[in-house]
Amino acid sequence: EKGGFEHFMLKEIHEQPKAYRDTMRGRIDVSGKHVVLPELKLTPEQIKNIRNVQIVACGTAYHAGLVGRSVIEQLVKIPVETDVASEYRYRSPIVTPETLVIVVSQSGETADTLAALREAQSHGAHVLAITNVVGSSIARDADDVITTLAGPEIAVASTKAYTSQLIAFYLLGLYLAEVRGTQTPEQIAHIIAAMQALPEQVEKMLSQADAIKDFAEQISKHEDLFFIGRGLDYAVAQEGSLKLKEISYIHSEAYAAGELKHGTLALIEDGIPVIALATQESVLEKTVSNIKEVKARGAEVMAITFEEHVAGLLKSVDQAFAIPKTLPILTPALAVVPLQLLSYYASLARGNDVDKPRNLAKSVTVE
Ligand code: F6R
Repeated sequence: EKGGFEHFMLKEIHEQPKAYRDTMRGRIDVSGKHVVLPELKLTPEQIKNIRNVQIVACGTAYHAGLVGRSVIEQLVKIPVETDVASEYRYRSPIVTPETLVIVVSQSGETADTLAALREAQSHGAHVLAITNVVGSSIARDADDVITTLAGPEIAVASTKAYTSQLIAFYLLGLYLAEVRGTQTPEQIAHIIAAMQALPEQVEKMLSQADAIKDFAEQISKHEDLFFIGRGLDYAVAQEGSLKLKEISYIHSEAYAAGELKHGTLALIEDGIPVIALATQESVLEKTVSNIKEVKARGAEVMAITFEEHVAGLLKSVDQAFAIPKTLPILTPALAVVPLQLLSYYASLARGNDVDKPRNLAKSVTVE
């Protein structure tokens, strides 16, 4: 049942190229120029009237929602907020019938997310669910559903469900952008073409997993470490940090790289591992300055970046892992893969139960 893999998590990491293809299949027309979402009940009229978007989810699905926020803001130019579901209801969110609320849930059964969905509907909002389980409570109650076709996810640590959620956000963002005319047909076709290259690019990274394994063995001896990044790199850093905590039990924090000097830098001491996500070219120079801040205090820095930046970055970091080149907005769908492998191998090196980490359940049905 594990298809020759030692753990479900590793199997599911390797299933991501298929999950990407399956989630895109039938949702990109043959010309490669348009996203089609025939399942959506949301009408073009309603889409044109959307004034704000709220994305609500828990855990890893929330981290997908952080990427979703950037995707929709950049492509559709609508204000977007992303909240954790257990906080959303209690902050009196401003929800109107012109609010599109997107709930994200692999299982479709998370109690806090379901409660947020109901709260949003009670204010007249249209609720769109991104979920992996057809017929789940969230899928049934939502006004609209985009199903991620990741297939069953058994490991408690979510991998292919998260990346499929990213694909769903890209598809949705492109669809909304076309209806609202916020991207040119050329821009849309360009992003679609880059999306279609992602599955093969993930395969390429998976074939280089050994480089990550060595680094994971090093960090498995530590009790604390940091992930840093800016913009979408920060969103990926947060997911990488959660993944590491939940299965390796190593304490880590994800920090917006520019925020370190406002307090957290005090924790950087000799030998502490720092994983720097450095893919977003518009802020790369600034991220490099932040890398230098931690290097100067003795941190051991591993960068995740594009091949073309490896040589330059190696002047300021100890190690670098190159990911294949893609558009800035699509980078999370690649950059998270080495972090999934990192947490997997760190957990393995510590002799933990990778697929069933302590204290955690696959589906969280209590609030
Ligand atoms: C982390 C993880 C959890 C879930 C969270 C939401 O790897 O699996 O953080 O992402 O409990 O679950 P769903 O997506 O089923 O609502």
